[in-house]
Amino acid sequence: MSDDHKVMLDDQKAKLLIVDDLPENLQALSKIIEQEDRLIYSAQSGEAALALLLEHEFALAILDVMMPGMNGFELAELMRGTEKTRHIPIVFVSAGGRELNYAFKGYETGAVDFLHKPLDIAAVKSKVNVFVALYQQRNEVKRQLTILEENRRILAQTKAELEHALKMRDDFMSIVAHELRTPLNTLYVDTQLRQMQIERGDFQAFSPDNLRLMIERDALQIRSMIRLISDMVDTSRIKSGKLSIRPAETNLSLLLQRLVEGTALQARAAGCELCLAAEENVIGFWDEFRVEQIIVNLLTNAYRYGGGKHVEIALCTYDGVAEIQVRDHGQGIAPEAQEKIFDKFERLDSSNVREGLGMGLYIAKQLAMAHGGNIDVVSEPGEGALFRVVLPLTGEIHKSKADI
Ligand SMILES: Nc1ncnc2c1ncn2[C@@H]1O[C@H](COP(=O)(O)OP(=O)(O)OP(=O)(O)O)[C@@H](O)[C@H]1O
Ligand SMILES: [Mg+2]
Repeated sequence: MSDDHKVMLDDQKAKLLIVDDLPENLQALSKIIEQEDRLIYSAQSGEAALALLLEHEFALAILDVMMPGMNGFELAELMRGTEKTRHIPIVFVSAGGRELNYAFKGYETGAVDFLHKPLDIAAVKSKVNVFVALYQQRNEVKRQLTILEENRRILAQTKAELEHALKMRDDFMSIVAHELRTPLNTLYVDTQLRQMQIERGDFQAFSPDNLRLMIERDALQIRSMIRLISDMVDTSRIKSGKLSIRPAETNLSLLLQRLVEGTALQARAAGCELCLAAEENVIGFWDEFRVEQIIVNLLTNAYRYGGGKHVEIALCTYDGVAEIQVRDHGQGIAPEAQEKIFDKFERLDSSNVREGLGMGLYIAKQLAMAHGGNIDVVSEPGEGALFRVVLPLTGEIHKSKADI
């Protein structure tokens, strides 16, 4: 090898095993074949050689044929019979005539060559060089193959991720369209109806009671569209790091009371009975509007996925934090999905295109984290779900994240 100037790490060097019962032979051979790109291991017996063979990965074994105890051929046979050593090329060093060459039974099974005593230095060098070069080429091919395999794996993974992202975008667009079209359609049909009533002179339809109902219904449709659009805006603000938190002193107990009342209609529509158990006067330093968003998202989910069973919301404090718990008794969430649901646009039942957009928990978690807190979920499939929001009372707004 002409790479003499290159410093090679030991584990990149080719390991050569030389076996001879006479130390002076080992020394002489070692001198002939030593080079910067190889490490030479010597053994004075077949047994010692086997121990080394099992421990190291050799590029070549040079075996003296005539040794007391296990001779070179016997050692070679043992090597051929062992998986780890079967493919190591062997060069026998023999003093006998060339007819001996064929005495080794494993001749056809692997690379085998012969050197004859007295050793011709140039022949030994070139033979060993050929085997070392072969070994290094094989290693290089193996290395390239591993890199190729790894690249292929990364490519396949990237492709799968891209396809997933594309599918999510398509789903997202179709849900947005549906979610906007439904309330818009309702509003449109209502305006048509009212126009007809006016044309017919049917003013009874516009009595104070009917008007109040009409306005309530309209407001509901409009609110659901506003919510959808602000969720989309928040999601893109989180992505671009522009969602701001404006903390102020907030009474969380009162906020929960208000939200329970505010979502009562929704709860009733879902057939859920809502019960609140809150510690009184839990006061902290938070962005009230954002905390409201977190809780409304959890309550909406509890109604939506709670299977019409009762929903409990609780509030307590400990160790300088406030903890809000929202528990439902619906379908629950499989363990492997429990992390995923906090990701953007993740919806567990994508066949159900009529449900939400998968933004609620993502936004809620980002908002909780922006307050120095967090959200987690405890659930078993079929056993309902318990969402826990922890918020530090001091509202340790993450300076770096305050403007997420
Ligand atoms: N209480 C729950 N019980 C069972 N599954 C839930 C519950 N809350 C959330 N999930 C699952 O997690 C998914 C993500 O919830 P998330 O609130 O982020 O989105 P969404 O409710 O689908 O839509 P959005 O909140 O944007 O209207 C839901 O689609 C649902 O599959
Ligand atoms: Mg939701």
